Amino acid sequence: MIASASTLDQAYRVAVEAALEAGRILRWHFQRGLEIRHKGEIDLVTEADVAAERAALSRIQGVFPEHAVLAEESGEMDRASPWLWVVDPLDGTTNFAHGFPVFSVSIALLHEGQRVLGVVYDVMRDELFTARRGEGAFLNGRPIRVTRTPRLEDALLVTGFPYDRQESPLDNTREFVALLRRCHGVLRVGSAALDLASVAAGRLDGYWEFRLSPWDLAAGALLVEEAGGRVTTPQGDPLPPLGTDIVATNGLIHAELLEVLSACRAGLSKR
Ligand code: IPD
Ligand code: CA
Ligand code: CA
Repeated sequence: MIASASTLDQAYRVAVEAALEAGRILRWHFQRGLEIRHKGEIDLVTEADVAAERAALSRIQGVFPEHAVLAEESGEMDRASPWLWVVDPLDGTTNFAHGFPVFSVSIALLHEGQRVLGVVYDVMRDELFTARRGEGAFLNGRPIRVTRTPRLEDALLVTGFPYDRQESPLDNTREFVALLRRCHGVLRVGSAALDLASVAAGRLDGYWEFRLSPWDLAAGALLVEEAGGRVTTPQGDPLPPLGTDIVATNGLIHAELLEVLSACRAGLSKR
């Protein structure tokens, strides 16, 4: 079944409204949290997460009650529908909790397993990244493109580390060190959705991360693809609809980045 253009137009408007509304709520909680933190009390992350998700989902479900939803705080609302909304109301929880103003709202829409719409909202910078399949990627309405950096050695990369890194050997540290030695630098920003948006906007050349959740990367993956970049699994396969391991680059450095990851996997990290 082909997705109708009018449904997609409406879905795009709803996704943007939902992201902005969730963002307003996060901003309010963040600013309030800063005051409270000064008084030595605990953070309000869970409250902010839940309130932002509730607002986003009520906007989406108010217009599309028959669509399925996979959202971080509510889990999967299983409905037989070709449409699936994938929502992270607050990506960058650790930053938020520490009063570091870098976090986002991530909303994607899949149709029959294909990512068709992605919105990432950088709340404190008021930057709205949007993409629709086949129509390009935009930042606050202006087209964005990935970089043209041709080689890994000239690249600025970004990555992230899994929450269970203190227990799991699959902690991304070997890959981090190997890549740090091969390029201009490797950032750790703390919001997978913003990492991907930054690659799409040509601010960074590439990103990789393992063992994410689908809501961390569904919207950002489409941003990178629509900005002319390449998105795969670390093995170089197409990213599944609800994939959790990702490599996203400007395309030009992709093979080199995959090679380093593969060497690490084989325990043969080059240097
Ligand atoms: C996290 C962020 C972070 C990534 C973690 C994610 P959360 O999402 O995207 O950048 O490294 O793996 O879980 O918990 O802040 O929504
Ligand atoms: Ca989250
Ligand atoms: Ca997340």
